[in-house]
Formats: sequence, C-alpha cells, structure tokens
Amino acid sequence: MLLERCASVADVRAMAKRRVPRAVFDYTDGAAGQDEASLRRARQAFARVEFQPRVLLDVRTVDTSTTILGERAALPLVFAPTGFTRMMHAAGEPAVARVAQRLGIPYGLSTLGTTSIEDLAAAVPGARRWFQLYLMTDRGYGVELVDRARAAGYDTIVLTVDTPVPGRRHRDVRNGLTIPPQLTARTVADMIVHPRWWMNLLTSEPLSFATLTSTEGTVADLIARVFDPSITIDDLDWLRSVWTGRLVVKGVQTVDDAVMVADHGADGVILSTHGGRQLERAPVPFEILPRVREALDDRVEVLIDGGVMSGADVVAALCQGATAVAVGRAYLYGLMAAGEAGVQRVGDLLAEEIVTTMQLLGRTRVADLGTDCLRLRD
Ligand SMILES: Cc1cc2nc3c(=O)[nH]c(=O)nc-3n(C[C@H](O)[C@H](O)[C@H](O)COP(=O)(O)O)c2cc1C
Repeated sequence: MLLERCASVADVRAMAKRRVPRAVFDYTDGAAGQDEASLRRARQAFARVEFQPRVLLDVRTVDTSTTILGERAALPLVFAPTGFTRMMHAAGEPAVARVAQRLGIPYGLSTLGTTSIEDLAAAVPGARRWFQLYLMTDRGYGVELVDRARAAGYDTIVLTVDTPVPGRRHRDVRNGLTIPPQLTARTVADMIVHPRWWMNLLTSEPLSFATLTSTEGTVADLIARVFDPSITIDDLDWLRSVWTGRLVVKGVQTVDDAVMVADHGADGVILSTHGGRQLERAPVPFEILPRVREALDDRVEVLIDGGVMSGADVVAALCQGATAVAVGRAYLYGLMAAGEAGVQRVGDLLAEEIVTTMQLLGRTRVADLGTDCLRLRD
C-alpha cells in the first residue's frame, strides 16, 4: 500500500509492520503483561465514546489552536517522548521534530533518545522542544541534563515517574530483543525479508543513547541507572528548585497523585501509563481524566496519552477536559512505515480527523469542546 492511500493511523501501522523486523515492530507496538490489558483497555475506552453532535451550525471555519503550557499550539497535540527512536528509522528524532514544527505542536525528546539534546536543537532549532527527564540514581547527572536542556533552548521539563523499574514486556522477551539489534543468524535471515530497514540501520550512524554517552558502562548498566526505584516526591521538590521553567509530571495515574504533584509545584500533569508499557492493569487515563480535572480546577494543565489512534480520540479527550493529547506509537508507526514522510502522513491524518470531527460535531473552537459533546456507552 502507498503512504497516500493510508486512510488512517491503523493503515500506517499495518504498513509499518511489513517494513521493519518483527522485534522492532513489537517493541513499539507491544505493552506490558500477558494480554497487554493496560493498552487494550485504553483503546477500548475510546471505543465507548458516542459524540453528541449539534447540526445546522456554520462550521466552515474551524480553529484547532489552543494554548499548551503557556504557548500557542496549532493543534491540541504533542509528540510524546520515545526512546530508541532511530531504531525505528535512522531519520529518528530530527524527522519527528521537523514534522512537529510543521504541524505547530511541541515535541518531547526522551532521556533515552538516540539524538542528543544539543544535536536535536541544532537540527531543528525552530521546533518547540520539551525534554523528558528520567531522574537517575546520580542526581548530579540529572542537574547536568537539565542545564543542558536549558542551554539548548528546551522550554519544558517532563519528569516521567511511572518507571521506578522497567515494565514486563513479554513480546520483547520472546523476540530476544537487543538494543542495538545484533547481527546473529536470526537477524541475518531477517535481512532478506526487511532489506530496506537493515540497509538504513547499517549505513547510518550507529545507534546510541546520544544524550547519555558521557556515562560509562553497558546498555544494561545504563538502564539500571536510568530507572531509579528510590525516587520520591522529595525529588520533585528538588527538581522544582533547580528548574525554574515549566515542569510537567508524566505517568500520573490517580486523582490523589495528580493533586500531590500539583501541590508540589508541577505546572502540568500527563495522565499516562507509558502507553500501557509499565504496570499491567493500570487505570485508563481517559477514564480518570474527568475526576482529575475536577480535583485540580484550573490550577494545572492536564494532558493525557495512551492508545490514541485518531483525531476522534483526541477530540474525545478534549471533551473530557484534557488540555492536549500526546501520541507515541502513532508517529512511530509513521516513522517505521516511511521515515519522515510517514510521520508527516500520521500528523496530517490526525490534524484532518480533528477538523472533520469538530465540524461534524458542530463545534468550531477547542474551547467549545466539553462534556456536553459526548456520552460514554456501556
Ligand atoms: C517505543 C516507545 C518508547 C517510549 N519511550 C519513552 C521514554 O523514553 N520516556 C517516556 O517518558 N515515555 C516513553 N514512552 C511512552 C510515551 O511517551 C507515551 O506515554 C506513550 O507512547 C503513549 O501511548 P501511545 O503510544 O499509545 O500513544 C515510550 C513509548 C513507546 C511506544
């Protein structure tokens, strides 16, 4: 299938599945646990939405713009931070950030990114960049990363807190996924099936955790340091004292924790289960959203992510009170399917779907999207 014939993100996903080795697709597509329930439930929650459209309204002009953490965005959308992005396609983070810039939305670079803080800023200076921080066992290193992000013009730190330890991702275990992918008899056999992906990998700069190269040790050592099980709310207080810019806490999953991080100075929360990749049977962000919104009033901004595959999902989340919605897999499917052009196709599809959904709903501004626009079917 041609990229332009992909009618949905699901079509792009199918294309991605054919283009890259199974271990790479599964790493992106998969979630935690035997039946990947956290992710499945997140998707099912959107399927329960029944919009309540108003008709006989002039919907010629739709304004999808909104303010996300103090700045105007053309769409209520964020490209979420994802690690190992260059494994999906060597174009990696710069390609994703360029598309984000064209769409007029923020992009979050991961601590586990495969392009460094500085290289991304140099490659795409005009993109609105957020830096996603994993607080490592070495807090001094955390300060260093925050300072580097500040110096390179990132305006928001996203502290991810749903990773005291890595989740149990069964597909990766079964596939024997190694990062970076190793040349073994099995992978050589795979080259025959996915020659383009292997050429792309082997003829581009070697995969590395670009931001972390100054740390020493193997990848396993590194990951053990990146996921710190001892992190507490005191660390948020500490981060708040060293970073005066906008601070968002990502991976909040209950009303109480949303209130707690707001009380400790967060400017925003991202209700997220890491795309269902961490705790099995986690709460569904879309379902807890109205309660979190109510508990927080307008004190902090509330974003959500997890299982968003269409513009209709985005609009539904806004109706339930989200400031904006983040997507991870959606753009990674595009990246795997066709590099930067694939990410652009996904961005365009989401943008067009948001506009069409709003027009058919009879709402022409983001501010008009509220709980009166939908009900949830049993
Ligand atoms: C392949 C992959 C890698 C990810 N890496 C990170 C990461 O390094 N840091 C982080 O905070 N979240 C990471 N996430 C989670 C995303 O930021 C986001 O929460 C999630 O993808 C949202 O769900 P969705 O993929 O269904 O849109 C990753 C997600 C995926 C799919």
